[in-house]
Amino acid sequence: MRRFDAIILGAGAAGLFCAAQAGQHGLRVLLIDHFDRVAEKVRISGGGRANFTNRELDPAAPHKHFIGRNPAFCRSALARFTPADFTALLDRHGIGYHEKHKGQLFCDRSADDLIGLLLAECDAAQSAGGLVERWQPCRVQRVEYGTAADDDPAQSSASYRITTERGLVETPALVVATGGLSIPKIGASGLGFELARQFGLKLTDTRPGLVPLTFDGAAWAPYAQLAGLSLPVRITIGDKPRRVDFHEDLLFTHRGLSGPAVLQISSYWRPGTPILIDLAPDVDLAAELLAAKARSRRLIARELAAWLPQRLAEAWVAQDAAWQRPINEASDKALQRLAECLQRWALTPTGTEGYRKAEVTVGGVDTRGLSSQTMEARTRPGLYFIGEVVDVTGWLGGYNFQWAWASAHACAAALGMRHRSLPTAQESL
Ligand code: FDA
Repeated sequence: MRRFDAIILGAGAAGLFCAAQAGQHGLRVLLIDHFDRVAEKVRISGGGRANFTNRELDPAAPHKHFIGRNPAFCRSALARFTPADFTALLDRHGIGYHEKHKGQLFCDRSADDLIGLLLAECDAAQSAGGLVERWQPCRVQRVEYGTAADDDPAQSSASYRITTERGLVETPALVVATGGLSIPKIGASGLGFELARQFGLKLTDTRPGLVPLTFDGAAWAPYAQLAGLSLPVRITIGDKPRRVDFHEDLLFTHRGLSGPAVLQISSYWRPGTPILIDLAPDVDLAAELLAAKARSRRLIARELAAWLPQRLAEAWVAQDAAWQRPINEASDKALQRLAECLQRWALTPTGTEGYRKAEVTVGGVDTRGLSSQTMEARTRPGLYFIGEVVDVTGWLGGYNFQWAWASAHACAAALGMRHRSLPTAQESL
């Protein structure tokens, strides 16, 4: 059996970063992942350029950009490892990046550069007296905790024993970085949640987040022809004081709605609740239509095209005969009703595209069971949870990766402290 100072399950964003940092604190780290490719979500993120952080993140007010039972939980980790810390790392590696929209930072070239950085940081462990060994693909078969009679007491106190398809390994510090349930075909699994349950930690309800919303086939039929059309909207969910709204682009799809506006709101959506969309934000559409009536004889759809894409305007007026006429012939009431429908489009999704398409899992390991300083389970010394497996979900825009880096950094710092106060792991055959 081989013994490591720390074993990390999951070689994604959080697991790789934690392994690199812990290795650089001098730990001998084993990183295990069952998927054949490393950090696959980093690779496919941000359209292949990885939106790896967000400059607008405010560590002092995490509730602005993070969802979870207790958004304040992530304050400490986010304050100790900020977006500027991560960009400094990119600068050291000579990786170019740029800001796109609302503080979102992307790699100039490719997300592969970021994966290269994470792997190079793991390699750098050796020059600090540590080591990061990666077993991938390697299935985890069982995780147990305890002391075995055949242990050399000088070497081993209580520890985690992990049975893998490459053999049995042991460690005093087990880090669970297996992420959430989204996109199973690239490696997502429920292992992190199962381990939390096995070791007595509570979970909050999980659901797909940052995911397209779907609608009943017949009810959606009039809009299905709009698939591919995109426009800026204001989208709202909930009532005051818990109302949330986003001013972003919306995309019509064959089965429903997507685009940044809908992905953002989906993380707050619960089955049965309506969402409200303003398809012409920033104008008083009723006033504009009434003014147009006084000066124009064109069809209402043509006039609407000043504020909406033509295809949408035409599909919309087709819903009511009172809107399919020259604007000067329409009643004020009909125009006001049209404006109201477009600016307060209330609709109740029937579902989401599910984990198959979701960018994240909302919910996870209940933060009340974890230390916000170290990510260690309060009732299970030596067991840590980092990244998306924890009940911390960021907005679209680089917030989820920043949480992965920051929680990994906090955990690795704790592993470093622990390591300095414990005897070093010796390999035993
Ligand atoms: P992550 O999912 O990265 O890694 C978990 C690892 O654990 C995987 O390598 C997996 O194979 C492994 N694993 C799972 N089960 C296992 C098991 N049973 N045994 C062993 N290993 C196991 N975020 C952002 O901030 N900016 C962005 O641009 C995007 N874009 C984006 C696009 C798409 C398509 C998706 C799906 C997601 C995003 N995200 C994002 C979200 C972001 O990718 C996500 O929040 C982080 O990758 C989470 O990092 P973790 O390391 O926690 O999990």
